[in-house]
Amino acid sequence: MLQRKKPNLNSLIMGGVAGLMIGGAGAYLSNRTNAESLESAKSDSVTLGDPELTSGIPGIALLTQSQIEAWLADESNHLPLKITLPPGLDAGSANIYIPDDNPMTRAKIELGRQLYFDERLSSDNTVSCASCHDPAQGWGAEMPFGVGVRGQTGGRNSPVSFNRILSKAQFWDGRADSLEDQAVGPIANAIEMGNTHDASIKTIAAIPGYQIQFEKIFEDGVTIDNVGKALATFERAIVTGPMPYDAYDKLVKFETTFADDLEYLDEEPELKAKYDAIKADTDAMPMSESAQRGMKLFAGKANCAACHAGANFTDEQYHNLGVGMEAAEPDLGRFDQTGEDKDRGAFKTPTLRNIAFVAPYMHDGSQGTLEEVVEWYNKGGHKNPYLSDKMKPLNLTEQEQADLIAFMVEGLTGEFPYVSQARLPQSPAK
Ligand code: HEC
Ligand code: HEC
Repeated sequence: MLQRKKPNLNSLIMGGVAGLMIGGAGAYLSNRTNAESLESAKSDSVTLGDPELTSGIPGIALLTQSQIEAWLADESNHLPLKITLPPGLDAGSANIYIPDDNPMTRAKIELGRQLYFDERLSSDNTVSCASCHDPAQGWGAEMPFGVGVRGQTGGRNSPVSFNRILSKAQFWDGRADSLEDQAVGPIANAIEMGNTHDASIKTIAAIPGYQIQFEKIFEDGVTIDNVGKALATFERAIVTGPMPYDAYDKLVKFETTFADDLEYLDEEPELKAKYDAIKADTDAMPMSESAQRGMKLFAGKANCAACHAGANFTDEQYHNLGVGMEAAEPDLGRFDQTGEDKDRGAFKTPTLRNIAFVAPYMHDGSQGTLEEVVEWYNKGGHKNPYLSDKMKPLNLTEQEQADLIAFMVEGLTGEFPYVSQARLPQSPAK
C-alpha cells in the first residue's frame, strides 16, 4: 500500500536527515574550521551554499547605517566572485548562467538577500518574495497557488527559488529570459506584491541603508533594473547541498565503468582507493534498499530521467503531461509564449532536488503527494492531443511505485543553505 503522507519538514530535519546533514551532506561545509572560513572569508573564490555568503552583514537585529557603511567600505565585498557549486550540483557547472553585466559579489548577494525578505517592496508592506518562496517551506509554498497582497491568489503553484543559477529561462512557461527579468515581475504584479516599480523604487530610495548600498554597488544607484540584478544575484547564491543520490550515482558509474576490474581491485591499489572513497560517501549518506531500487527505476523502467536529467534533474524543456488539460479552458503554458501547437499545455520540467519538501506538486498545485504524482505517471498522464510522446503507461507494480517514492524522499533530499531572514535596513525616522 502507498500510505506515505507528505513528509513533514520538521520530522525530516529532526529525524532521518539529521544524521545525513551532520555525517554526510553537511560535511562539506561544517567540516571547515572557523579559522579556515575566516581565512577564505574575503577570497574571491567561493563555493555557493557557504553560509558566509548569506548570513547577512555581521551583527544582530536591524542593520544600522554604520554597520552598512563598514561593510561597504570593505573592498573585498565588491570583488567579482569566482564561484563553484557544492558537490553533486557541480556536475551541472557547464550550465551556470550569469549575465556578463551582473557579476556576483558578496555585497550584491547581501543586498539581494535584504530585498528578498523585505515586505516593504509590496504595496501594503505585507508580502515579500519569501511569502511564496519561503525557506521554511523548501523555498516554495505549501499552498497550491501563491498568495499575494490582500490574500489574492493566481492560478499557478510557486516553484522553488533555489538552484536557479542552472536555469536561464524562468517561470513555468519560460517567459522570463533571465532571473534579472524575472525578479522585478512580482513587485508590479497586481495579485502578487501589488506595487508599481516607481513606488517601490521610491520606497527603497527613502531607506538610507538601501540608498547607500545601491549607490556603492551600482553606477546608477536605485533603479528597478538594479533591484532585479541584486535579487537575481541572491537567488543564484541559493543552491542545495549534496544528497545520497550524488554519492550513489558515482558508485553506479564506477561499478559500470570498471565492471571487469571489480574482482581484481586488490591488485590495483589506486583504483581500489578510489572505490573505497566512493563507498565511504555512500556509507555516510545511506539509502534504503527500496530507494536504491527506485533509483534504478527512475533511469530505467519508469523513464523519469528522459526529462528529469542532469545535475538539477531537469532538461530545461517544456512538456505536456496532461496536468489541468481536462479543464474547459486549460492553462496553455508554453503555448502562450511560442504560439506553437506542440507547446499547448506544456510546462517547464522542474528540478526534483529536495522534492519531498515542496508539495503540492505541478504547475497548478493539483497533486498533493508524491504518491499522486507517481500514480499520474504510471497511468501515462492524462490523454490529450498534445500529450508528450514520452508519456506512456508504465505498468509499475505497487512495490515499484513505493520504491520510486522512497528514492525521491531519501535519495533526493540534501542540505539547504543557511540564510539569514533578519538584518534588514531600518526604515527612515518619521
Ligand atoms: C504571491 C506569491 C509570489 C510572490 C510574492 C513572489 N513569487 Fe515568485 N513565483 C510565484 C509563482 C506562482 C510563480 C510561477 C509563475 C509562473 O510560472 O507563471 C513564481 C515564479 C518565480 C520564479 C521562477 C522559478 C522557475 O523555476 O522558473 C522565481 C525565480 C521567482 N518566482 C522569484 C521571486 C522573487 C525574487 C520574488 C520577489 C521579488 C517573488 N518570486 C515573489 C509566486 C510568487
Ligand atoms: C516528458 C517529460 C517528463 C517525464 C518523462 C517525467 N517528468 Fe516529471 N515533470 C515534467 C514536467 C514538465 C513537470 C511539470 C508539469 C506540469 O506542472 O504541468 C513535471 C513534474 C514532476 C513533479 C512535480 C514537481 C514540482 O515541483 O511540482 C515530480 C515530483 C515529478 N515530475 C517526478 C517525475 C517522476 C518520478 C517521473 C518518472 C515516473 C517523471 N517525473 C517523469 C516532465 C517529465
